[in-house]
Amino acid sequence: MTSISLPELCLVALIGASGSGKTTFAREQFAPGEVLSSDAFRMLVSGDENAQDATHDAFEALYFVARQRLRRGLLTVIDATSVQADARRHIVALAREFDVLPVAVVLDLPEDVLMARYRARTDRHFGPQVISGQVGQLRKSLGKLQAEGFRHVTVLRSAEDVRAVSITRTR
Ligand code: CTP
Repeated sequence: MTSISLPELCLVALIGASGSGKTTFAREQFAPGEVLSSDAFRMLVSGDENAQDATHDAFEALYFVARQRLRRGLLTVIDATSVQADARRHIVALAREFDVLPVAVVLDLPEDVLMARYRARTDRHFGPQVISGQVGQLRKSLGKLQAEGFRHVTVLRSAEDVRAVSITRTR
């Protein structure tokens, strides 16, 4: 079992390619209002959680809500792929803005698992090469997360690892 100890107030980034199980993990481990999902914000701003042309607006809205929550002293989880350094830079900057700990939980599942899940889904409209690209970006990122500013980094490498996580919150 992997134990993750989180301060009661922190900013958690779930990092992983599409299909790695970020949303499922977030649903199991956090309260609904704590989780800000890029898909949900794409849906809110455009009516389509797959609308890539809504990404900028979706993240603007997501970051607006994240700021409101952190200002209120509420733990916040960002459920987006965050496989690109640029996306993670925004998360670390936001945590610093509110002087809270940026925490990374990485779902680095084998590519064949991601592909099998992708083939079983009807709700994703991009090609499989998008997932391979994300896996490549994630692998390049793994060794850099601490240097980017994430103070706690947990890397989960299988569906079993993800399922067996126990999160505790400390004062
Ligand atoms: N899934 C699964 N077994 C798991 C976790 C997820 O079969 N242990 C399946 C889900 O049922 C879903 C797909 O994998 O069909 C993606 O799960 P999700 O939690 O949405 O993954 P995300 O990483 O959030 O994917 P995306 O970035 O595309 O939203």
